[in-house]
Amino acid sequence: MAHDLYRGLRGEDLNKTVRDLGLDEKYLDDPNLAHSKIASIMLREKYGVEDSDILNAVSFHTTGRRNMSTLEKVVFLADAIEPGRNYPGVEDIRKAAEKGLDEGCLCSMLGTIRHVQEQGAYLDEDTIEAAEFLKENK
Ligand SMILES: [Fe+2]
Repeated sequence: MAHDLYRGLRGEDLNKTVRDLGLDEKYLDDPNLAHSKIASIMLREKYGVEDSDILNAVSFHTTGRRNMSTLEKVVFLADAIEPGRNYPGVEDIRKAAEKGLDEGCLCSMLGTIRHVQEQGAYLDEDTIEAAEFLKENK
């Protein structure tokens, strides 16, 4: 319910929030990456959520990270393959998810890495580390 609370922030509103919350400048003009970090902080500060597993699941639902908890993987993968999702490669991720959480998450991360590199866009290092961690711990 909470992971995309700030998905709609754009432009100056987004950048002001990034600055006000003291987030890294890499989140400026990047709603894709910023909304998860903003939602996690606001859940804690505005909505009183204290469960660090929930806060981390929201914070890393876009990128993943090394050594994710089961809840983090569930939210990450569910977000990637929920029925409303329709993008190239989503069926491969759904098939991988049938084998297990780690398989699904890794397939999604590798797809993101490939896609972002093809676009020449910024690739968050948390995603690379997350994929490497899952490969090493297969
Ligand atoms: Fe999101």
